Amino acid sequence: APQMWLTLLCSCGGGAALLYVLYRWLVPALVQHHAGLALLWHDVIVERMLDVLTRSTRPQRLLGAVRRTATRGDPRSVVRAIDDFCRHTEWAMNVGDEKGTGCILDSVVSEVSPATVLELGTYCGYSTVRIATLLPPGAKLITLEFNPDFALIARQVIAWAGLEEKVHLVEGSSGDLIPLMKEKFGVKSFDLVFLDHWKDRYLPDTKLLEECGLLQKGSVLLADNVICPGSPDYLEYIRNSPKYRSQHFKSHLEYTKVEDGLEKSVFLG
Ligand SMILES: C[S@@+](CC[C@H](N)C(=O)[O-])C[C@H]1O[C@@H](n2cnc3c(N)ncnc32)[C@H](O)[C@@H]1O
Repeated sequence: APQMWLTLLCSCGGGAALLYVLYRWLVPALVQHHAGLALLWHDVIVERMLDVLTRSTRPQRLLGAVRRTATRGDPRSVVRAIDDFCRHTEWAMNVGDEKGTGCILDSVVSEVSPATVLELGTYCGYSTVRIATLLPPGAKLITLEFNPDFALIARQVIAWAGLEEKVHLVEGSSGDLIPLMKEKFGVKSFDLVFLDHWKDRYLPDTKLLEECGLLQKGSVLLADNVICPGSPDYLEYIRNSPKYRSQHFKSHLEYTKVEDGLEKSVFLG
């Protein structure tokens, strides 16, 4: 009988170890080159499994990582904490840290040095913190998020970074809020717009910004994930319209090796 128990224990231990290796390394390594599989694994299977096991949501777990590992009032440590969490613990749909993505965003923000920024799609506030950290004194960032659970987490991440003064997070959908920017939020125009919400809204919201007179000569649009998941109608419009001069930056889907890109487009008036 003791031998039987030992065999059973060894089999259970071996099975658990195998499952852990599959979950932690093998499957992530296999899916990291394939967009559909990477999103299915990280964004559906793993997220739902961890939600059930931990009785929390991914944004709540991300906020937990920020509270545990970032220094209050130090935005760079907040960015680092989220990057570490997404690289080593759980993938999340932030703009990502690698050279091709987060750094392109940083360099565009620094180059434009905008007084007014609009971000479409806040999620947990990762890119919001990245952008706000680089803004010149007196500049303002308005960020829009229609999911109230994400907005709740983002407010706490932004507060942990000590950036509440620079950031105005507005809850609601871009299609409803963009037309209110002048009257309700006192914005004349945006120097920089970061498009990172659902990809089928890139084109209609760009046209809405134009119609509402929120772009002026020299305003810059920066659109993430234009290749994966991709926004072909937006690219077609922005590259062929005489109103814009566009430039493409190659990158990868956040925290994977799937090819992606950002499109920077200057409004020519
Ligand atoms: C890719 S995530 C944004 C990631 C974030 N910019 C970052 O890098 O940390 C997209 C977010 O846009 C939000 N969203 C999608 N469509 C929207 C819309 N039309 N108006 C407002 N928010 C939207 C989603 O709820 C989601 O949180």
